[in-house]
Amino acid sequence: MSLSQRADALESKMARDLDYIVIKSRLYSMADGDMSPPPNAGALMKENPKARVLMGDDPRLPAMPEKPSLMDFFRLRFGPCMHLLQSARHAVKAGLPENMVLACLLHDISTIGFIRGDHGYWGAQLVEPYVDEEVTWAIRAHQVLRFYPDESVGYEYPQAYITAFGPDYHPDPYVEEDYKRMRAHKWYMSGRQITVHDIYSFDPNLHVELDEFTDVIGRNFRQPEQGLGFDNSPVAHMWRAMIRPAKYL
Ligand SMILES: [Fe+2]
Ligand SMILES: [Fe+2]
Repeated sequence: MSLSQRADALESKMARDLDYIVIKSRLYSMADGDMSPPPNAGALMKENPKARVLMGDDPRLPAMPEKPSLMDFFRLRFGPCMHLLQSARHAVKAGLPENMVLACLLHDISTIGFIRGDHGYWGAQLVEPYVDEEVTWAIRAHQVLRFYPDESVGYEYPQAYITAFGPDYHPDPYVEEDYKRMRAHKWYMSGRQITVHDIYSFDPNLHVELDEFTDVIGRNFRQPEQGLGFDNSPVAHMWRAMIRPAKYL
């Protein structure tokens, strides 16, 4: 059975079992190395007359409140976040200003909730309407700056990257170009601080509670009263994509 036949069989089994049909977005299929056309929703519905494609909440995922807050995303959508909590605590201990503690707390939210590749750019975009411009800038910059050492703050190229990417890895040219621009920017050190407090190999024995940062979030993240995803901001649809990642249309 080919990969796509297997996927189709799985979709139709799921429809029989669950009375709803999941058609994955193209990006998810490509991430599985699957270039085949999507399952035919019409054919699946014919086989399972009661089944419908998902347009509302996904019953496989925890229900989100009507007006979700950043905390709700941490608790109900994001994957394990100890790396972020430890990084933020590290930043507090170093005496960073609160807005930069928030930047450390949020720097990898795209990795844990949305898309990994270029996660600094995605993460910055996700938070842009709700935080200081400097926080957005720093989150975007950490994506790039982490590949470049800065002796003045004791930041070396992470050993973890040598292991993960191999000793011959070189960042893509667009990263190299962004590095030159970011190095010369007035907020360079803010982006750099994220890399300094980025805990590359997190400590499995150090547990940090998200509640430790409730006040920092409250003072530095402008939570929209309609809830993230429903505030008509330019990024609301990105938050909705995490609420309902398998929405058909
Ligand atoms: Fe990161
Ligand atoms: Fe990180």
